[in-house]
Amino acid sequence: MNNPPTNLKNQALRAWVDDMAALCQPDKIHWCDGSDAEYDMLCGQMVEAGTFIKLNEEKRPNSYLAFSDPSDVARVEDRTFICSKRKEDAGPTNNWLDPDEMKAKLQRLFDGSMRGRTMYVIPFSMGPLGSPIAQVGIEITDSPYVVTNMKIMTRMGSAVLDVLGENGTFVPCMHSVGAPLEPGQADVSWPCNRDEKWIVHFPEERSIWSYGSGYGGNALLGKKCLALRIASVMARDEGWLAEHMLILGVEDPDGQKTYVAAAFPSACGKTNFAMLIPPEGFDGWKVTTVGDDIAWIKLAKDGKLYAINPEAGYFGVAPGTSYQTNPNAMEACRRDSIFTNVALLPDGDVWWEGMTDEPPAEATDWHGNPWTPASEAKAAHPNARFTAPANLNPAIDPDWEKPNGVPISAFIFGGRRTNIVPLVMQATTWHHGVYIAATMGSETTAAAFGKMGVVRRDPFAMLPFCGYHMADYISHWLNFGRNIPNPPRIFAVNWFRKDDDGHFIWPGFGENMRVLKWIVDRVHGRAYSTESPIGWMPRYEDLNWEGLEFSREDFNKLMTVNADLWKEEILSHDELFIRLYDRLPKEMIFKKELLLSALWRSPTHWELDPDKVTWNPARGG
Ligand code: OXD
Ligand code: MN
Repeated sequence: MNNPPTNLKNQALRAWVDDMAALCQPDKIHWCDGSDAEYDMLCGQMVEAGTFIKLNEEKRPNSYLAFSDPSDVARVEDRTFICSKRKEDAGPTNNWLDPDEMKAKLQRLFDGSMRGRTMYVIPFSMGPLGSPIAQVGIEITDSPYVVTNMKIMTRMGSAVLDVLGENGTFVPCMHSVGAPLEPGQADVSWPCNRDEKWIVHFPEERSIWSYGSGYGGNALLGKKCLALRIASVMARDEGWLAEHMLILGVEDPDGQKTYVAAAFPSACGKTNFAMLIPPEGFDGWKVTTVGDDIAWIKLAKDGKLYAINPEAGYFGVAPGTSYQTNPNAMEACRRDSIFTNVALLPDGDVWWEGMTDEPPAEATDWHGNPWTPASEAKAAHPNARFTAPANLNPAIDPDWEKPNGVPISAFIFGGRRTNIVPLVMQATTWHHGVYIAATMGSETTAAAFGKMGVVRRDPFAMLPFCGYHMADYISHWLNFGRNIPNPPRIFAVNWFRKDDDGHFIWPGFGENMRVLKWIVDRVHGRAYSTESPIGWMPRYEDLNWEGLEFSREDFNKLMTVNADLWKEEILSHDELFIRLYDRLPKEMIFKKELLLSALWRSPTHWELDPDKVTWNPARGG
């Protein structure tokens, strides 16, 4: 049964759906209209099927909980492929397979893969409907869990078909959980394919095929697959940026609004930073959220960069999220949300590690087993998620759906480094900023053993999300900056430096506002900096300390540049540069040399000196 909606005018879409139905052989086809009635109907069906547990209507209105299969709990980077025609174009940091070979494999896998199931056709827009920056995608899936999550995460439904019209283009996103049902075979609560998972992108034809997983970025194909991997290729070809960045607005007491975009690797607290609440000492300051994960950025005729958040919801990591760490996220998932792999309380509400100081006396863990605080296993999976509508975030920016986006004045790049990298610094030029972003990294948790962890370089936090050669991506950033008359300033931050006893020195969370204010003030040319061998830095007196006791000594611990460690650090960038060497822009090599020579001239320990100030108001910093 194929009952296309009356406003379907696009013949290419009709033909593609027919072809995919013939290939996958579903029992039924359902064109999603995106209505609340459809959402309620699917949720009801999933409750019947055991996929969803309806949560207590009073405590968590209109919300559901799913437990996934234990083999299907996270993005599968080792099963993620960029199948460009030439291997060189995917680059050394992506998995690659010949596209013809991959297509033959996918044809075999998808042949009959939806037998016994319904095939859902989901028209969606990444970005506000009709925004000149938005893109239309069509996801075909056999997972009702995906449909309901896509309703929260994107603008989804029949209005998208109107935007698409007769001749509009769309990104085809093909998804199957890879678990066909034989006649009479009973379904499981979380169908997936335990043996084979493939997340495949064809960048030249801008299409996506995902098989075997029903979880997160593997299955909600608008997010990492379209909005980052495919969009990064579009952005390179068309001269814009598709970035793994949050977007936030800072309003000062005079009502002046400044927007910044910030990139952090996965699991570095992006959602918390995007929803930051200014601490004591910041009366009259406000932070508003435009997006928490992805930014699409274009240069406008006025010479400024404008960004939209292509998503409409948050797919946030639940463990660690609490009314202390992120009240706005807690409010966003107060209702109308889907929870995956968190624990279920006896009263029908949810719980996860870090949500409350005291754990509950009992719960059902994400495996569906009884759990108490004495249990060895965690109640929630560490990658458990909430899918929450963005407009429930009390700090949502009033312009978050502005079709032309919000103007970006600064880029912030941050990694997770327990030493060496200071709390904050400003790049002296655009290409210095690109160098910093290209070499950012995070330490793996070997640090837990008291040793320095191994640094995994994650250029621009895009390592798992760039749909082409990472060195070409760095070139794209360099070229992009050359065409902007007055480009946004670039900053690096590191909230994670530890002292000799292994304790975090910086309190983080809301206190990050102190750093953010300095960044905003620099953008407007109203804050001082001093020149270190690795970039411009604030002195102790350049940050607002009202409401926080934080000594100059501790600040200097966060800011000291140890020249010996920095020389090692910069030399270690070669490991990445050699991997990318065939296409690495030479500016990276020259910048490395300049940084090294600056360090060789500086004292062993470069300390902030309150009397030494560099300020260049002409450049606004
Ligand atoms: C995410 C990620 O889920 O970056 O956003 O992994
Ligand atoms: Mn992310």
